[in-house]
Parts: sequence; C-alpha cells; structure tokens
Amino acid sequence: METIGIIGYGSMADMMVQKWLERGALDARQFMIHTRSDTERLHQLIGKHKDVNICSLDDLSTSCDVLFVCVPPLAVLDVLDQLRPAKKALHIVSVAAAVTLDKLAQHTNQPVSRYIPTLTSAVGTGVSLVAHGKTVGQEEQERLHRLLSAFSLVREVEEGRFDAASNLTSSSPGFIAAIFEEMARAAVRNSELSLDEAYEFLTYALLGTGQVLVKHGLTFAETVDRVATKGGITGEGAAVIQKQAPHMFDDLFTQTMKRYEQLKSQIDEADKHH
Ligand SMILES: NC(=O)c1ccc[n+]([C@@H]2O[C@H](COP(=O)([O-])OP(=O)(O)OC[C@H]3O[C@@H](n4cnc5c(N)ncnc54)[C@H](OP(=O)(O)O)[C@@H]3O)[C@@H](O)[C@H]2O)c1
Repeated sequence: METIGIIGYGSMADMMVQKWLERGALDARQFMIHTRSDTERLHQLIGKHKDVNICSLDDLSTSCDVLFVCVPPLAVLDVLDQLRPAKKALHIVSVAAAVTLDKLAQHTNQPVSRYIPTLTSAVGTGVSLVAHGKTVGQEEQERLHRLLSAFSLVREVEEGRFDAASNLTSSSPGFIAAIFEEMARAAVRNSELSLDEAYEFLTYALLGTGQVLVKHGLTFAETVDRVATKGGITGEGAAVIQKQAPHMFDDLFTQTMKRYEQLKSQIDEADKHH
C-alpha cells in the first residue's frame, strides 16, 4: 500500500485528499500530512477520518512514496530545502504555479513532477495538467496518472506550454465566472430581470452547455450553430461577442503571461538571496 505525503493543507490539498477518500481511491491510513500551523480545515479532516497521520517533515521523507507539495509558489523551494534526503524512492509532486522543474531539481535529488490542479476536481471533473522531470520513471508517472484520474482527466503538457494551459484548466473557472458575472449585470442593466434570476438562469445554462459539449461531443462552433439560426436573435448576439472578445482575450493572455514571468523572477530572486 503506497503512502501519500502532503505538505501544506490549504484548499488544493483538501480538495485532493477529500476526493481520494470519497472515491475510495485511497484509505485514510495512507495519508501523512505536514502543516506549519494547526488549521480548522485540518481538524475537520481528522474529525472525519481519524486514521490520517499528522507528522513531521522528517517522517514524510522517510515513509512516503509520493509527496505532494501544496504550499504557495514562494514557499516551495524553502520546503524542499528542509526535507531530509529520502531513504527510498520518493516522487515529489509540486502543485505550485511558476516554480519550474529546473528550479525544483536544484533543490532536491528526488524525481520531481509538476501538477496543476483545478477547482473543478472538487466535483470530480476538470483537467489535471502534469509535467515530469527527467528522472521520473515510468512507474512513477503511471502512479501519479492513476491517482489524479480519481477526480480528473490527466493531460501531460511540456513545460513550455504549461502557463497557457493552466489558464485554460486551472484559472478558467475564475475567468468563466467573471464573464458570467458581467453578463448577469448586463441583463439587470438592460431589462427588468433581477440579479438573482440572472445568476440562476446563467448557472444552469453554463452547467447544461458543459454537459452538451461533453456528452454530445459538440465543438463550441457547432454549439453556436445549433442555437444561432441564420438571421435569428442569438446570431446577432454571438456576432457581438465574435467582434469584441478576441481583443479582450488577447489582453487576458498578455496580462496573465506577464504575471507568470514576474512570479518566476520573484522566485529566482528569493532563491538567490537564500
Ligand atoms: N487555488 C487554485 O485554484 C490553484 C490552482 C492551481 C495551482 N494552485 C497552487 O496550489 C498551491 C496551494 O494553493 P491553495 O489554493 O491550496 O493555497 P492555500 O489554500 O492558501 O493553502 C496554502 C497552504 O500552504 C501553507 N503555507 C503557506 N505559506 C507557507 C510557508 N511559507 N511554509 C509552509 N507552508 C506554507 C499554508 O499554511 P498556513 O495555513 O499555515 O498558512 C496552507 O496550508 C499554490 O502553490 C498554488 O500555486 C492553486
């Protein structure tokens, strides 16, 4: 039975652990968790699953097979520096944005992979992005794939395309929510609809659209065509989006990519001064 280590127990770690337990993919006894502080979230987990082990960093590196580092990007390298060299093969998996495989490999001799989680895995869906360091073996890759498949589709993407891909897998629920917030507010400004009605109507439209895309295998363009009959009302609205959205989304990519680069420089700087 493999042992899964977790460092940091924030929203992402909680999502993963809860999902593995709920789906029966792993047993509570298989978890070893280390956090720097005692949090309500951790208490709730232990209250529900008494067999989860809370332990020191040293215990983690001696006993785990896979170790998920679930702390903020600027804390990842520090955490790796504190790990004692493992006695057996330990596959380290960092979930942080902007901390590259090269950087990670400079702070540990263990095989390292990156995994970008998505909030939507809390409902058992979404794409988990994965990239492996050079020394990660086939078996380790397969084990990570199996673990993440319990709550997501797993897709491997070269690191050079990781940030753009994260925009579509991990940040996109936030982007989609921001877009629909604006559509709801526009409905209120331009009609007698209430904001609550607008939220409800759009939420179910969003849920249904996702299901139609996946279950019927439709593309976005086909979905537009299905709803927007020639010369109809929907076509008129879709044309407004097709005209104005490219500029907005180009900006979104420019700004987010800039932010990724800033974060990488901050991580480099912090690393130099360490
Ligand atoms: N949220 C997302 O949708 C998302 C998506 C993709 C990737 N990620 C990545 O996932 C990671 C965790 O995100 P999250 O949303 O789970 O964050 P979170 O809820 O804020 O949790 C962060 C965890 O890290 C711990 N921590 C913070 N600073 C630390 C330090 N200096 N040393 C040791 N532990 C520290 C926190 O402990 P305390 O309680 O003691 O502060 C907490 O347990 C980040 O690296 C982020 O880039 C997040």
